[in-house]
Amino acid sequence: MANKLFSKAVLGNLTLENHIVMAPMTRNRATTDHAVTPIMATYYAQRASAGLIITEGIAPSPNGNGYARVPGLYTKAQIAGWKDVTDAVHAKGGKIFAQLMHTGRVSHVTNMHEGGEVIAPSAIAAAGQIYTDTEGMLEQPTPAR
Ligand SMILES: Cc1cc2nc3c(=O)[nH]c(=O)nc-3n(C[C@H](O)[C@H](O)[C@H](O)COP(=O)(O)O)c2cc1C
Repeated sequence: MANKLFSKAVLGNLTLENHIVMAPMTRNRATTDHAVTPIMATYYAQRASAGLIITEGIAPSPNGNGYARVPGLYTKAQIAGWKDVTDAVHAKGGKIFAQLMHTGRVSHVTNMHEGGEVIAPSAIAAAGQIYTDTEGMLEQPTPAR
């Protein structure tokens, strides 16, 4: 078992150093404006000995970025920030996939860029509250659809 865990694994056209995959974990280490920060490159590079890293959920669009300090992948600056992350992981021989995550209705405009909108398939609010950096806990909003 241990031999298999630590042996190379083939995944499509990639060869992974081992069979260990790091699960995606939101870390809220982006800026309040959802920019990628240098400590994120350090964090992922420190874990590059996993066969494969799946990043934390990354918003594919401003409306999908409704959690506090979650990174995006829709501006040139964010793309450049993620290139710093992937370069740091590749430099240590690691492999990394981006997990795209749209926050849907579990989301708040207070956490979004100006002009952001909470959108979801149905105009039904989720139960409960959501954390925001500027206003603390707020009721979950009813999304536009
Ligand atoms: C702090 C934390 C953040 C997480 N963030 C994400 C995330 O961004 N995307 C995701 O798909 N899962 C996320 N998860 C779920 C983990 O990936 C999941 O717990 C892990 O795959 C283990 O699966 P299990 O909880 O079913 O045992 C997160 C879990 C934790 C503890």
